[in-house]
Amino acid sequence: MKMRAAVLEEFAKPLQVTELDLAEPKPGEVLVRLAACGVCHTDMYTASGVDPSGYAPTVLGHEGAGFVEKVGEGVSSVSPGDLVVTLFSPQCRECVHCVSPDTNLCLAIRDQQNQGYLPDGTTRLSRDGDPIRHFMGTSTFAEYTVMPEIALAKVSPEAEPDHACLFACGLSTGLGAAMNTAKVKAGSTCVVFGAGMVGLGAVAGCRLQGAERIICVDLSQDRLELAKGQGATETWVGDENTVQRVLDETGGFGADYTFEATGLVAVMRQAVESARMGWGLCTIAGVAGRGETLDVVPRYLITGRRICGSSFGGVKGRDQVPQLVQLYLDGQIDVDPFISHQITLDEVNHGFELMERQDGIRSVITFA
Ligand SMILES: NC(=O)c1ccc[n+]([C@@H]2O[C@H](COP(=O)([O-])OP(=O)(O)OC[C@H]3O[C@@H](n4cnc5c(N)ncnc54)[C@H](O)[C@@H]3O)[C@@H](O)[C@H]2O)c1
Ligand SMILES: [Zn+2]
Ligand SMILES: [Zn+2]
Repeated sequence: MKMRAAVLEEFAKPLQVTELDLAEPKPGEVLVRLAACGVCHTDMYTASGVDPSGYAPTVLGHEGAGFVEKVGEGVSSVSPGDLVVTLFSPQCRECVHCVSPDTNLCLAIRDQQNQGYLPDGTTRLSRDGDPIRHFMGTSTFAEYTVMPEIALAKVSPEAEPDHACLFACGLSTGLGAAMNTAKVKAGSTCVVFGAGMVGLGAVAGCRLQGAERIICVDLSQDRLELAKGQGATETWVGDENTVQRVLDETGGFGADYTFEATGLVAVMRQAVESARMGWGLCTIAGVAGRGETLDVVPRYLITGRRICGSSFGGVKGRDQVPQLVQLYLDGQIDVDPFISHQITLDEVNHGFELMERQDGIRSVITFA
C-alpha cells in the first residue's frame, strides 16, 4: 500500500513528508493505522546525526498509538480494531529476560531492531523498490506502520489515542522508574531531578506509591508548576547547592529515593549524593551523551547508597502499559498537561523546533 510518512533523508536536514510503500504484514506482524504520535528527544537526536548508531533514510517516530488494521499469520494477541500502543521495548514473554521478573529488556528482536529491520531481517518500508529501514522497530511518524505483534500493547478502547501515545515512551519511563525500578515505599521522601516528560512521570509514580515528600528539581519555573500538578510537594530551582539543601532538609541524611531525568552526568552525581545514607536508592533514567561517565565517590556506596538504571521504567510493555493507561482512565494520572501542542504529520519539523525551545512537554501528531 501507499502511505505518507516523515522520512529522515539526510542527517541534520528537516524531515520530508512523502509517499512510501508499505508491504503487507508477514507472519507474527501487524499493520497499524496510526492515530497519534508524540515527538520525542530521541527522534530529534537521531535526526541531528549525533547518534552514532543512526542511519538514513528511515522513518522516525516511536511514541505511537493507533488501531490494528490487519494481522499477519499466527497473530493472536491483537485483532483488527484494537487500540494499541507501540513498544520500542518489546515483550516476547519467552526469552530469558522476559521470563525473569527482574528486567524488561526483551532479547527477542534486539539485533534486527537496532539495525532497522523487522525480526526476519527485512523491511516492509520501501520507495521505488528500494528498502527503507525502520526506526526503533516502530517508525510511527507515518500514517501506517507494520510491527511485530510482540511490540504492541493492547490498551483500553476508552483511551484517547493522543493520551495513550505518551505511554509509549517518556511517561511510562518515569512512572515505571518510581513504581517498578525503585518500588518507592509509602511515607518516603523522594527527590526527582528534571521535570520533563520522564521526571514528571516519576513524580506521578512517587505519588501513586504513597510517598510523603516529593521534591522536584528543575531549572524552569513553568515545568516546576507542572510538577506540582503531578504531586510534587515541593519544587526547587536546581543549582550547585541542591545536594546540601536535600541534606539540610532531611536531618543530614538525604532522601530515601532519588531520580535523575535530565541526561546530565553532573545532575546524576547530585542524585547519587542526595540519596540517603544507609538505604537511599538513586534511579537513573536520563541518557547521557556518548562517552560521558558518571563520577561517584565510592564512600557514598559503602555507606549504603545504591544506584540503578532504568530503561523504559522497567516496564514490561504488553503486560504493564495497559495497566498504566488504565490508571489514567481511572483519573489517577492527569495526562492533559503533557500535551502542549497538537500538530499534523506535515508539521513534524515544527514539533522539533518547539522541543528545541523547550516549549511545552510534548507535541503530539494527530492523524486525520
Ligand atoms: N531510560 C529510558 O528508557 C528513557 C526513555 C525516555 C527518555 N529518556 C531520557 O530521560 C531524560 C529526560 O527526558 P525528557 O523527555 O523528560 O527530557 P526533557 O529535556 O524534556 O527534560 C529534562 C529536564 O531537565 C531539566 N534540567 C536541565 N538541567 C537541570 C539541572 N541542572 N537540574 C535540574 N533539572 C535540570 C530541564 O529543565 C528539563 O525540564 C533524557 O536524557 C532522555 O533521553 C530515557
Ligand atoms: Zn521517546
Ligand atoms: Zn523477550
